[in-house]
Amino acid sequence: MVSRSSFCQRFAAGVGGLPTSIRNGAARAGDVGRARVPVVAGRVQLREKGVLVCGEEVGSLKTQSRRRWREGSSSSVTVSTNAMSAQLEEEPAAKGEARVILEVQGLRAVVADTRQEILNGVDLVIREGEVHAIMGKNGSGKSTLSKVLVGHPDYEVTGGTAIFKGENLFDKEPEERSHCGLFLSFQSPVEIPGVSNMDFLRMACNARRNARGLEELGPLEFYGFVAEKLTALNMDPRFLDRNVNEGFSGGEKKRNEILQLSVLEADMAILDEIDSGLDIDALRDVANAVVGLKKDNNAILMITHYQRLLDYIMPTYVHIMEAGRIVKTGDMSLAAQLEAGGYNAVQAMKM
Ligand SMILES: Nc1ncnc2c1ncn2[C@@H]1O[C@H](COP(=O)(O)OP(=O)(O)O)[C@@H](O)[C@H]1O
Ligand SMILES: [Mg+2]
Repeated sequence: MVSRSSFCQRFAAGVGGLPTSIRNGAARAGDVGRARVPVVAGRVQLREKGVLVCGEEVGSLKTQSRRRWREGSSSSVTVSTNAMSAQLEEEPAAKGEARVILEVQGLRAVVADTRQEILNGVDLVIREGEVHAIMGKNGSGKSTLSKVLVGHPDYEVTGGTAIFKGENLFDKEPEERSHCGLFLSFQSPVEIPGVSNMDFLRMACNARRNARGLEELGPLEFYGFVAEKLTALNMDPRFLDRNVNEGFSGGEKKRNEILQLSVLEADMAILDEIDSGLDIDALRDVANAVVGLKKDNNAILMITHYQRLLDYIMPTYVHIMEAGRIVKTGDMSLAAQLEAGGYNAVQAMKM
């Protein structure tokens, strides 16, 4: 369990200096310290001794053993029939074969400071190869769910379970969740002055490669690797020389999130309103990039208000969230009904 106090101790202090590998001028490193960004979903954390990218400071990465899951042992994942039947009204037969990547059961969470309950019994099962969309009115708890899954310190889990690739997610630190292949894109990505996008991406990539037992990529190899990703994303290579998100437009920040996702090769990506603030061309590019990242052995959970993103990405399931739980699950037609009749129409169907 990630305790809020240890989190605060670790992240509240900000940054006193940067590891040599990502140092980009002492003055700018000081700027990072003043920025005092507490935590970015385990991907980057600013703390006393430096910047932590995917939990790695100076090569002290702890390799996670995920052998059981890698070998595809179905016994490592217990699928609850209750959660399944609550979530899925009709299970396509072919999907029964795919391994469960994430199983959330009865998840309850409160705001750590006020003890206000936001999530009150979320059930969700996501298998490899699936794309799930969560829709729902503002304030229904969609972002809270995604932040709780990656271990955001503002929230405390008060009940339920989340099993990711056969392991208890809540036993892991946020950076360990990232190592394991869980990725959250942010509604408002943070700027990190003094850290170039290239250095950041390479560190993040290597931290994840380490966790998977792969060799690190040197600067040249990494350039080749990332150049392909940039092309696929229709992104200008000059992005790499700029500091992470510094001075980026809203659309550029969203593209940069997807670039990070593609470099990290996450097993499960949670995309929180990745379409917000995008113009039509940028939406198409970002959506196509996400489609390009879909594989048989990964999964996507996207949160959106609009059908236009779903038209590109074509989710396997669409869920409606209301008052901290998933109240309805269907396919794309549910999103179409929402678009046509609003949430009241769905409310009527719930009964
Ligand atoms: N850190 C927090 N402190 C206080 N209230 C919060 C916090 N996070 C979320 N909430 C409240 O929880 C509810 C759900 O928020 P959120 O998960 O952001 O909704 P959504 O993403 O569905 O719009 C809202 O009423 C919001 O104000
Ligand atoms: Mg939200």
